Amino acid sequence: TANKRLLVLPGDGIGPEVMREVRRVIEWMDRRRHVSFALEEGLVGGAALEAEGSPCPDATVERALAADAVLFGSVGGPKWDSLPFEQRPELGILRLRKELGLFANLRPAVVLDPLVDASSLKPDVVRGLDLMIVRESTGGIYFGEPRGVEVMADGKRRGIDTEVYTEDEIARVARVAFELARKRTGKMTSVEKANVMQSGRLWRAVVSEIGKAEFPDVQLSHMYADNCAMQLCLRPKQFDVILASNIFGDLLSDLAAAATGSLGMLPSATLGAPDASGRRHALYEPIHGSAPDIAGKGIANPCAQLLSFAMLLRWSFGMEEDAAMIETAVEKVLAGGLRTADIMGPGTARVGTSVMGDAILRELDKVAA
Ligand code: NAD
Ligand code: IPM
Ligand code: MN
Repeated sequence: TANKRLLVLPGDGIGPEVMREVRRVIEWMDRRRHVSFALEEGLVGGAALEAEGSPCPDATVERALAADAVLFGSVGGPKWDSLPFEQRPELGILRLRKELGLFANLRPAVVLDPLVDASSLKPDVVRGLDLMIVRESTGGIYFGEPRGVEVMADGKRRGIDTEVYTEDEIARVARVAFELARKRTGKMTSVEKANVMQSGRLWRAVVSEIGKAEFPDVQLSHMYADNCAMQLCLRPKQFDVILASNIFGDLLSDLAAAATGSLGMLPSATLGAPDASGRRHALYEPIHGSAPDIAGKGIANPCAQLLSFAMLLRWSFGMEEDAAMIETAVEKVLAGGLRTADIMGPGTARVGTSVMGDAILRELDKVAA
C-alpha cells in the first residue's frame, strides 16, 4: 500500500540527473519488491526561483511538512550567484532544515573496499574507514543574529555573521551523537574551538556534562576543529563518531569525502526530534552540491543520491533489508570496475550517470533474485 509519503526535490545542476537514477530504483522497488510510495515531486532552489520567484516556496515547505520523508537533490549554480541574499537557491535547503526542525545531520563516511584506490590518501590509511559525522544543522553561524552587510560611519562596509549556540541546541544534537556512538564502537569525538570561541567553550562543557550524566559508557574525547581536520587526513581511522557544529561539520564532511574517493559517494540524513508517536521529520541529501562544472554532461556520480535514498529507507521507514540491498548493489557495481569519472582507479572503466544506474539495477535484480 502506498502509505509512505515521499517528497522528491531534485533542485539544480546535477540534482535532477542523479535523482533520475533514484526514480528508476523506486520503480524497480514497486515492480520487484511490491513496495510503493506516494510520490510527489516539488520545486526547490534555482528551479523554484525561476518557476515561482522563491528558492523555497511555501508550497514546498508545506508539502515537506506533510511528507513522511523528503529526498533532496542539490541547489545552486553560477547563474544565481550574484542574486541578493534572500533569493539565493541555497536558502532552499537552509529554510527546509529550519522549518522542519532538522537539527541533526548524519554524514557517514565509509570507504568501500573497491574504492580504496580512488581515495586521495594511501590505501592503508583509508582501508576499512567507517566514520559518522554528526553535524548540527539548524543553528550556529548559519542562522545567528545579527547578520548582514552594513555601512559604517566612515562609509566602509562590514559583513557580519554570528556564531551562537544555546545549551539546549548543543544538548539535543549531542544526544543523537552519543546514541549513535553507543550503537557503534562506543567512541565519540566532539569538535570545537573551545580555545578561542565562547560558543565552543559552552559546547565542550555541555557535551561533557551530558556524557557524564547520561552516557558514561561512551568514551568521549574533545578535539579542536583545526587539529581534527589535520587528523582526518593523517589518521582518519582513529575516529568513529565525530560531533561538530554546523560550519565545522560542513567542512569536516567534505574533507572526509576526499578520503572515501569522492564527494559523489557520500549520503546524509537530516533528522528532527521524534514526536510523542515516534514520528520525526527527515530529509535525505547527498553532501555534494549541484556541481556546475559537470552539470548537463551526464557524468555525475549517482551513488551519493542513491545511498541517501537507502538511508531514507532505513531511517524513515525501517526498511533495513531494502536499504542494504541498494548499498550492496552499489558496492558490487564498483567492485566490477564500472566507475564515473570522479572515482576512477587502476583498471576501471569510465561510464556516465545512466550506465552506472543501469548496472546498479542489474545488480539489484541479482541481489533480489
Ligand atoms: P559541489 O559539491 O557542487 O562540487 C565540488 C566538486 O565535486 C566539483 O568539482 C564537482 O564536480 C564534484 N562533484 C560533486 N558532486 C559530484 C558527483 N555526484 N559526481 C561527480 N563529481 C561531483 O560544490 P561547489 O562547486 O562548491 O558548489 C556548487 C554549487 O552547489 C554552489 O552553488 C553551492 O552553494 C551549491 N551546494 C549545494 C549543496 C546542496 O544543495 N546540498 C551542497 C554543497 C554546495
Ligand atoms: C551542504 C551544503 C549547504 C550547507 C549549503 C548549500 C547551504 O554545503 O549541505 O553541505 O552549507 O549546509
Ligand atoms: Mn557542504
